[in-house]
Amino acid sequence: MSERETWATRAGFILAAVGSAVGLGNIWQFPFKTAQYGGATFLVVYLVAAFGIGLPAMLSEFVIGRKSNLNTIGAFERLGYRNWRVVGIVGLLTGFWILSYYSVVGGWVLRYIGGSLTGAYFGDAAAYFGAVSAGLPAVALHAVFMALVVGIVAFGIEDGIERATKLMVPSILVILVALAVWAFTLPGSGPGYAYFLSPDLSQLRLSVVFTNAFPFVAFSGPLAEIIPFAVSQAFFSLSLGMGAMITYASYIDGDESLFGDSVTIVVFNSLIGILAGLVVIPLLFAQGAEPGSGGAGALFVSVAGAFATIPFGRVVGFVFFLVVLVAALSSAISLLEVVVSYAVDNYAVSRPQVAAGLGAAIFVLGLPSAWDTAWLTWFDTLAYQLLLPLSVLGILVFVGWVFGRPAVEELLRGTGFGGGIGSLWLWLVRTVVLLGVVLTLVLGLITL
Ligand code: PHE
Ligand code: NA
Repeated sequence: MSERETWATRAGFILAAVGSAVGLGNIWQFPFKTAQYGGATFLVVYLVAAFGIGLPAMLSEFVIGRKSNLNTIGAFERLGYRNWRVVGIVGLLTGFWILSYYSVVGGWVLRYIGGSLTGAYFGDAAAYFGAVSAGLPAVALHAVFMALVVGIVAFGIEDGIERATKLMVPSILVILVALAVWAFTLPGSGPGYAYFLSPDLSQLRLSVVFTNAFPFVAFSGPLAEIIPFAVSQAFFSLSLGMGAMITYASYIDGDESLFGDSVTIVVFNSLIGILAGLVVIPLLFAQGAEPGSGGAGALFVSVAGAFATIPFGRVVGFVFFLVVLVAALSSAISLLEVVVSYAVDNYAVSRPQVAAGLGAAIFVLGLPSAWDTAWLTWFDTLAYQLLLPLSVLGILVFVGWVFGRPAVEELLRGTGFGGGIGSLWLWLVRTVVLLGVVLTLVLGLITL
């Protein structure tokens, strides 16, 4: 392969992975989870998790994908571990589950694009959110969003989305920075920065008590609640535990530094989340809202209320939600693509058929979430407290303890690093990283 082709492949891969990673997880979920679960303390745990657990886990998925060049279930088989396909299956199910409510939120975004043009949400932003985020309007929008995703995947017009992603990334940066600067100038936003950015270290506490009664262990301290959400937020946001990164890496055929790629993705993804936090959290404070009170509506209500008061608010709102839509679509496509590519590889079905069939099933699964945000919260909670940590745990156990040394060789390919770094990574995956995910899962299950 010539140098130029290799470079093109690498850029395409990073772009696709960033397109998958940057989405509603950063712009919608990260700010509201941060506001709900402790502000700066959440941010600290999130960052530690993103770099300390997410990065090694992403490398693990990349290794499985690049080494096997196969879809997320077939990959385990090709590597010689047929029974471990179950890890791939758990990932597929997790992705399926998450896409069902991801699409509901995508529907809200669609509605806000229209609402920006007409100024529909300029009056009472909270009442508007209440009206569009539940019942039939939300079901209809969920259907439209899912139809868009299915259409794009079915007709293989990802090219268009790839080009849109190229535009999306810089425009998201510009818009979020501009909104963050503007939020900074608002009276009352000041305490938002302390809440978001200055951690109270006394909150970083976790105590364990062993008991005689099931489940024989009890946790207390603020971290007991923060860890499951912050760590799983890192997985969700980095598209881990859903087969997406395995699938993307399976298309790499060159030698490239998986280290470099994953660091780029994690840094970029964190940056976008923090920027969104710098918009939403100060806005919530400026609007006099309790940080935790916004829930799933925090982004929509806070920015809508803000657009109502600025010059050219309709245009700014329109552009903002349009960019959020592109981010949401590129992520949702990557989720559906995982399942579709598995089905097309293995059964005699056409791409449009699978995409439509799966899209319909995911739509139905998302109906409760569309109908009532309480259901959406329940679906989201189950994903965070059970499915995501379980799925990532499976990946880590497989790569660390089952696949082992060959994973290190694959990881080092194209890096120029010595074996020491690879061994260190393997050791971390086997011990510290793995234990972090076990702790996340246990805490998640106990508070479920
Ligand atoms: N990472 C995406 C986001 O933050 C969500 C996603 C997860 C997309 C898994 C694809 C696969 O919005
Ligand atoms: Na993300």
